[in-house]
Amino acid sequence: MEERELLGVLEKYNQNHLIEHLLKLSESEKSIFIRNLKNVDFRLLNSLYSEFKLGKKIELSLSEIEPPDIIPYPRTEEEKRRENEAKIVGESLLKERKVACLLVAGGQATRLGSPYPKGLFPITPVKGKTFFQLFSEKILALSRKYSTEIPLLIMTNPETKEQIEEFFERHHFFGMRRENVIIFDQEVLPVLDMDGKLIIKNRTEIFLSPNGHGNSIKRIYDLGILEALFERGYRYLFYFQVDNPLVRIADPAFLGYHILSGADVSLKIVRKEREDEKIGLYLKISGRPAIVEYSDLSMDIASIRDRDGNLLFWAGNAAMHVFSIDFIKRLNLQGFTLPYHSAIKNAYLGKDGEELKVIKFETFVFDSLRWTERVCAVEILREEEFSPVKNREGPSSPDTARRDMSNLFRKWLALCGIDLPKDIRCEISPFFALDATECREKIKGRRIEIGDEIYLE
Ligand code: UTP
Repeated sequence: MEERELLGVLEKYNQNHLIEHLLKLSESEKSIFIRNLKNVDFRLLNSLYSEFKLGKKIELSLSEIEPPDIIPYPRTEEEKRRENEAKIVGESLLKERKVACLLVAGGQATRLGSPYPKGLFPITPVKGKTFFQLFSEKILALSRKYSTEIPLLIMTNPETKEQIEEFFERHHFFGMRRENVIIFDQEVLPVLDMDGKLIIKNRTEIFLSPNGHGNSIKRIYDLGILEALFERGYRYLFYFQVDNPLVRIADPAFLGYHILSGADVSLKIVRKEREDEKIGLYLKISGRPAIVEYSDLSMDIASIRDRDGNLLFWAGNAAMHVFSIDFIKRLNLQGFTLPYHSAIKNAYLGKDGEELKVIKFETFVFDSLRWTERVCAVEILREEEFSPVKNREGPSSPDTARRDMSNLFRKWLALCGIDLPKDIRCEISPFFALDATECREKIKGRRIEIGDEIYLE
C-alpha cells in the first residue's frame, strides 16, 4: 500500500491520530510503520467496532433453547460398561497412531498477570513443574503406555513463540521427539480504545492482540501442519487449553465416545456450580448444538431448576475437545470464518505500562459447532479433570489448582488404602500413574513413605 493510499484509508476509518503520528516520523520509521499497518483490515475492525457500539447482544429466549444430550458420568453398572467399551475403542486409536494433540497457548494471561507465558508458570503442588512440563510428561507417559507417538501442536502468539521454543529446546522437549512438538504462532488483530481508535505502541508499531483460540483450527490448515499430520496417518485432534493442569490428555474413553457416536466434534462437560458461574454453556438452540457465553443467557433462564432442584441448563464447557481432522479440513476447504466476539479487557500499554481499558476481538473454537453434523458431549467431574488457572488469586487461581491436584492424588491413594492427613501436599508424576487404576497397580505391595509432602514418580 502506498503512503497516499494508506492516508486515505486512515481518514476514511477515522484514524486521523495515526496520520498525525505518521507525519512526525523519519523516512525510515515511516516505511516500517506503513509496513506494519499494511496488513490491518480496517474495514473488518470498523464493522466489529460498530457492532460493539450497538451492543448487539443475543439474549436467548426459553422457547428456542433446550438442554442437549450428554453422556452421563458413569455411575451405574451399565454406564460403566459403556465407558469401558469406549475406552477400548479409544485405546486402539492411540495404538494405531491416529491421535495428535492441539494445545492452545496463545492467550495473554492478563488476569494471571504472569511475567512469562502461562505454559511456563510453575503449577504442580510439590515439584512446581510448569504446565508445559506436566503436559509433556502426560503425553510421554501415554505414548509409552500404548507404544505410540502422539504429536503435540502448540499454538503461541507471535510475541511468545520464541520464548516457548527456547524453553522446550532448553528442556530437551521433556523427552518427546523434537519432530513431535510443533510450535506455531497465531494471527493477531489490533486492539481498539473505547473510541474505536487503534493504539500507538511506539514510533513504528500499534498494539496488537492474539485473535482468539478459534484461530487454531484455521492456522494449522494454512500452515500445512494439518496436512502433514494427515499424511502421517493422524485422524483426530485432542484439543486442550494451557491453563488446566487436571486435563486428561487424549483420554481414551473420550476418544472412543467420539468414534462410537460418529461425531465431528466432541466436548467434555462439567456441571455448573452456580447459576451465575462464568462458564460457557452447552445447549441446543433451535435444535442445533451450540456453546454460548454465560452472558447470552438471562439470569431468569440460567436459574431455572428441574424437579430435583438441579439447574436445567447445567452443562458448562470444560474446553476439552476431540476434532475429527476430516471435519477441520472440510471447514477450511469451504473457506469458513468464525464470528468475532468482543470484550473489554485491561491491557498494560503506554511508555510506563499504564493500565488501559481496551476492546479486543477474538474468535472461539467452539463456534465451529455450527457446521457439525454430529456432536458428542461427555460429562466429567470437576474434581477429577477441571481446575483452570485464570486469576492471580481467589477462585480459579494457582492456589486452587494446586489444592485440586493434591486432593485428586490423595483420593487415588485413598483408593489404595493409604489415607493421608488433609494438610499434606501430594503429587503423583504422570510417569507413576495417569489415573487411579494405574496408581493402584503401581502401589500394590509397595511401602509409601509419608513425610511432610508426598511425591511419587
Ligand atoms: P482465556 O480466554 O482464558 O484467555 O484463554 P487468556 O488470554 O489465557 O487469559 P486472559 O483472559 O488474558 O486473562 C483460554 C485458552 O485459550 C488460549 C489461552 O492461551 C488459553 O489456553 N488462547 C486465548 C489462545 O490460544 N489464543 C487467544 O487469542 C486467546
